[in-house]
This record gives sequence, C-alpha cells and structure tokens, in this order.
Amino acid sequence: MEEKIAVYPGSFDPITYGHVDIIKRALKIFDKVIVAVAYNYNKKSLFTPQERVEMIKEALKGYTNVIVGSFGGLLMEYMKEANAKVVLRGLRATSDFEYEYHMASMNRSLSKDIDTLFMVTGKDYFFISSRTIKEVVSLGGSVEELVPENVSRKLREKFVQQKRGAK
Ligand code: PNS
Repeated sequence: MEEKIAVYPGSFDPITYGHVDIIKRALKIFDKVIVAVAYNYNKKSLFTPQERVEMIKEALKGYTNVIVGSFGGLLMEYMKEANAKVVLRGLRATSDFEYEYHMASMNRSLSKDIDTLFMVTGKDYFFISSRTIKEVVSLGGSVEELVPENVSRKLREKFVQQKRGAK
C-alpha cells in the first residue's frame, strides 16, 4: 500500500510547541510527516536554515516517522521531489485564513493533484507565533512553556550573541 505522506512546510524560525502539536497530531493520520524548512524567500530570519533544521531534529528526536528537510524554491517542486500529495498547515485564528487560502489556491493552480489540509491549532497554543516568541526573548522574557527546551536555550544564546555583536 502507498505510504501516506504529509509535508508540513514553514519558516520555523523557530519551531514552537504549536508546531510540535500539529506534527504529533498529524502522525496519527499520516505514515510519515516531512517538516520542510523554507529558506531563500522574502522573509528575514533569525536562525539560518541549518540551525532551524537542527533545532527541529533535536526537538523531535524519538519520532521515527518525522523527517526534517529544507527547500529554497517552490513548495510544489519540493512536493514532487518528496513524492507527497498533501501539504499540512496549522490554522490559529480566522486572521490566518486569508493568507492560507491564497497560498493554498496558488499552490493548487500550480499542481492540481496536491491538496492543502488545515489543522486547527490546539487551544493551549493558538496565541503562540515564532514572531512573538522572538520578541519576548529579545526583551528578556521567558518562553519555556511555549517552545521545546533546546529552542529556548538557542534563542537566549542567539540574543546574547547579537547584543555582544552590537556593543
Ligand atoms: O511559516 P510561514 O512563513 O507562514 O510559511 C510560509 C511558506 C514557507 C509555507 C510559504 O511561504 C511557501 O511555501 N514558500 C515557498 C515558495 C512558494 O512555493 N511560493 C508559492 C506559494 S504562494
């Protein structure tokens, strides 16, 4: 029987417990989840693609059906290479919907045989975003309950490095 594969693409700058929750729930539906870190598009990131991949691998070690990859071009091209037909995205609030709807529609016009599946973010995580996580840590706040331990450590290190560099 053909393996059921979902690709979960995103910036993951950095991965949060909201993302981890989506991945764990997807593993109950799919045989394999490929977490795909996007780079090389119009978004400035705090962590390099390699750092983001490594953080995700460490946060998800023990999950044998999770593969962590990265891509720099069109998601639909990556889907073909991965031989996957389902894109997985999390929806936190109605405000996410418009952006996601446009992206899913554009992707569908590029590849008619690929579908985007939305999973509603768990109630404990709907307010978490990578952007606000970075802001809180940069201002000295704690995000220990919102991101994996290795991620909160890396965030602290990154901002200490940045502050040293700015002096
Ligand atoms: O976590 P994000 O930043 O919301 O993820 C957005 C992402 C990376 C999934 C999206 O921007 C993407 O797929 N980029 C790759 C380029 C692409 O395929 N663009 C066409 C679809 S609009």
